[in-house]
Amino acid sequence: MAEAAILGFLQNNESIPDSGNFAAELNLDHEEVKNVIKSLQGFRYIEAKELKRETLVLTDEGKKYAAEGSPEFHFFSAVPEEGSISKDDLEKKLDASVFKIGSTQAAKKKWVAMGKQVSRKVQHVEDKVKESLLLIQQGLEIDQESLNSLKARKLIASQGWTGYSDVKKGPSYAPKRKIFATDLTRENLQNWKEMEFKEYNFNAKGQPLDAGHLHPLLKVRKQFKDIFCQMGFEEMPTNNFVESSFWNFDALFQPQQHPARDSHDTFFLKAPSTTRELPEDYVERVKQVHESGGYGSRGYNYDWKREEANKNLLRTHTTAVSSRMLYALAKGPFTPKRYFSIDRVFRNEAVDRTHLAEFHQIEGLICDRGLTLGDLIGVLQAFFSRLGMPKLRFKPAYNPYTEPSMEIFSYHEGLEKWVEIGNSGMFRPEMLQPMGLPEDVRVIAWGLSLERPTMILYGIDNIRDLFGHKVDLDLIKRNPICRVGIE
Ligand code: PHE
Repeated sequence: MAEAAILGFLQNNESIPDSGNFAAELNLDHEEVKNVIKSLQGFRYIEAKELKRETLVLTDEGKKYAAEGSPEFHFFSAVPEEGSISKDDLEKKLDASVFKIGSTQAAKKKWVAMGKQVSRKVQHVEDKVKESLLLIQQGLEIDQESLNSLKARKLIASQGWTGYSDVKKGPSYAPKRKIFATDLTRENLQNWKEMEFKEYNFNAKGQPLDAGHLHPLLKVRKQFKDIFCQMGFEEMPTNNFVESSFWNFDALFQPQQHPARDSHDTFFLKAPSTTRELPEDYVERVKQVHESGGYGSRGYNYDWKREEANKNLLRTHTTAVSSRMLYALAKGPFTPKRYFSIDRVFRNEAVDRTHLAEFHQIEGLICDRGLTLGDLIGVLQAFFSRLGMPKLRFKPAYNPYTEPSMEIFSYHEGLEKWVEIGNSGMFRPEMLQPMGLPEDVRVIAWGLSLERPTMILYGIDNIRDLFGHKVDLDLIKRNPICRVGIE
């Protein structure tokens, strides 16, 4: 409709000066006229200039007065021609808003004398407000003073209006638009000689795919997995969030009075509150090493309690998995191994910008005869270089299960300072020997969180924006793939 009207009009006329008037005269929807002009312009059938103006429109209140009359007019009409009426009676007669607005406006216009009794000051009034509003509604002009007062009373508002002016024939003008075929249908192919096909637009964006999206943590995890795999590491099975205190702490030579074993730091399970089975002979050796040592150690010298080891908890570190794996490894004839894991751990901690009660740990370990601290430093250097962090420093630290232990620091080029990125060490003989690993077998290991590098890579400064129920799903959909690695 609109397209035929525009192209037809231009066949006999020089130009359309104003798309708004054009639409109004032909009783067309102006939005449609605008869309057609835009499209015809794109195909150079026509040329047009954009036109912007402010128009006045009635607000809801303005529309009401235009239809029903102003409140001051109603108020005035309710006052008797002769004598007076009490204010209370008037209030009862009129709508609350008509009474309130009407009384103020009518008094201001000196139409009525207001007191306990209300009487007319003039005999006849004109509802200029209604008249002005009707004029505006028809797109006609009114005097500036009335305009200002209607604006002040919020009965009208200005609204941006866009359209086109100077609509003329363009270089490809034709009275009717050629239709290009857009699909290679059987019919189109049969008649291809008579057809014109639309050119391909290789710059058009494709349809967004309605598919699942990987969370940033999963993307970064993939990067870590790839690095471990490139370095010859095998993944450990981490599919148990519930662990016994035995594997999480005791097997790691962590004394039963250690503060980390407190319920303030660890989530214990109510049901089932205890583990069903543990390897009895190994439990006996662990008890021994805690109580009185062995393998060159003096032990901790306290009464080791089985009930404490039986308690179920949500694992506080993935080193619980490493202890199970090393125990399993010790059962067979010894073979050197490189293991890694990346999975969730839980700590009963106060939640803040950088801490949640659950997070992910990345852990790597190498188990071989005669490994030294030098091997640990070397493998950490290789690992972190692959992450793009070649500058490392180490600080002596303490873990109940490693000796020596080292915190790992990396130089952050952006922050221009050394930041802590992980923890590491050589597992103690008190941990490895009771498992039954050969005496000369050493295990070097390290751990770090997955959240921290992910937050750095994606520029997220509040962990709650990354993980948990407050995460914006759109962020997950939009976040790019990430690459970490050797520069
Ligand atoms: N388990 C340690 C932690 O939770 C990390 C670690 C792993 C330290 C292996 C040393 C060796 O922080």
